[in-house]
Amino acid sequence: MSERVAIFDTTLRDGEQSPGCSMNLEEKLRMARQLDALGVDIIEAGFPIASDDDFAAVCEVAKTCQRPIIAALCRTTPEDIERAWEALSYAARPRIHTFVATSDIHLQYKLQKSREEVLEMSCKSVRMAKGFTDDVEFSAEDATRSDLDYLVQVITAVIDEGATVVNIPDTVGYTIPSEYTHIIKTLRERVPNIDQAVISVHCHNDLGLGVANSLAAVAAGARQVECTINGIGERAGNASLEEIVMALRVRKDLMPFETGITTEEIYRSSQTLSNIIGVLVQPNKAIVGKNAFAHEAGIHQHGVLKNRLTYEIMTPESVGVKTNSIVLGKHSGRHALNKKYEEMGYMLSRPELDKAYKLFTKLADQKKEVFEEDLLAILQDGIANIPERYKLRAVQATAGTSTLATALVTLGDTKSEENETQTASGDGPVNAVYEAMDKITGLKGSLVDYTVRSITRGTDAVGEVFVHVEFDGVSYTGKAASTDIVDASARAYLNAVNKALYAKERKKAVSSEQVPATNAAD
Ligand code: KIV
Ligand code: ZN
Repeated sequence: MSERVAIFDTTLRDGEQSPGCSMNLEEKLRMARQLDALGVDIIEAGFPIASDDDFAAVCEVAKTCQRPIIAALCRTTPEDIERAWEALSYAARPRIHTFVATSDIHLQYKLQKSREEVLEMSCKSVRMAKGFTDDVEFSAEDATRSDLDYLVQVITAVIDEGATVVNIPDTVGYTIPSEYTHIIKTLRERVPNIDQAVISVHCHNDLGLGVANSLAAVAAGARQVECTINGIGERAGNASLEEIVMALRVRKDLMPFETGITTEEIYRSSQTLSNIIGVLVQPNKAIVGKNAFAHEAGIHQHGVLKNRLTYEIMTPESVGVKTNSIVLGKHSGRHALNKKYEEMGYMLSRPELDKAYKLFTKLADQKKEVFEEDLLAILQDGIANIPERYKLRAVQATAGTSTLATALVTLGDTKSEENETQTASGDGPVNAVYEAMDKITGLKGSLVDYTVRSITRGTDAVGEVFVHVEFDGVSYTGKAASTDIVDASARAYLNAVNKALYAKERKKAVSSEQVPATNAAD
């Protein structure tokens, strides 16, 4: 029987805190459900002291996902630890994850503390966390640039205090596999109580070595790996979950370890995240990129047709990529749609199914074949639970090489129950549409990013538009899919507008309840 490596997913914490990857509560919950279906052992759901939103996310994820361990991050201060524990109160299997930097450069410039003081802070925090729960993880931030003797001292001390998991992060993506192997082996040899804790690794990808370093650490004795879907995370990202898991599976001959991951859920997890945050996966990304299983060269195609093993080291099906994915057509009924969603792992409520069916029939009228990706897009765009203050009633745009782009937009205001129409001109049809919308809503949006891609094949393909729009300095994502790009662009922008208005409403409600503001994390 092979040894088990625990998969600790930090998409909702380390991933989410990186620019352009933020998610609202509803989106975090959707992602958490998918991570649960994927079979991760631990979901790090947030950093509760950092914001009320992070606090709420940890609470709600803990309520929703009862199988995996739910971890909440905190620094070593009592307020941080108390807040993390409060957020974990609904968790069936809570974990407090406390961290402090141990490298001299962090001690000197960031913390302005001595090694003795940081050692004391580490011990105290683990002691306090242990008073709340048995499952306590300690992370020595910037471990790979820390003095190894000091690291041995800190790790020994926190295990003595009861830490059950000790994490050795490569916070700045600086190490290389041979060095990381040496660090993990040294800890195993020189920390006398190391058998009382699981060694965890957490690698950033600044040198593109996050996955290689994680695997080297596993070979050296680590039994928990921290990673994110699609490798999202600070700067160049974190080690990618799908790459680690598939490397362990495909090269079991050299790395005889098991994970609890249902690999057939990998592609869906990647797509779900990409749809939520509006960050597309690069086509040549290992495992989940659009081209990961595409064979272009004639000689490769010839080989694959004769025997897939010639050029494929794993099957697309093993990561949940369907090769034949036409699923429904114009005549499919509500029952078939519900059944298909169930097969895809989504249980829709009656109102959600009604809404999804309406969008499906509209789409099936426009396209001959509806693919699983289309159904996912319907789910992501159409039935997300953001209240729609404005609805798109009509949009028309004209543009050309020698004419000024103009647009006419009608929005329905669900508050006043009135429709308003405005016209505007712009640099192009999409810009003109957005200008007209701003006139109606009174919000001035600044478009930070705009991406369009076709989700499916053919001239009637559904195009999906992602936008990142800033309102009053805060960035919101919006997305929508349609066979008409201008329509999708308008609805994506409106999605971001509705999120911004919803966030404003929520803020107002929270401040009238007098919820105290919390410290921002460093
Ligand atoms: O990169 C890092 O060191 C972290 C810790 C908080 C685990 O994210
Ligand atoms: Zn990190």
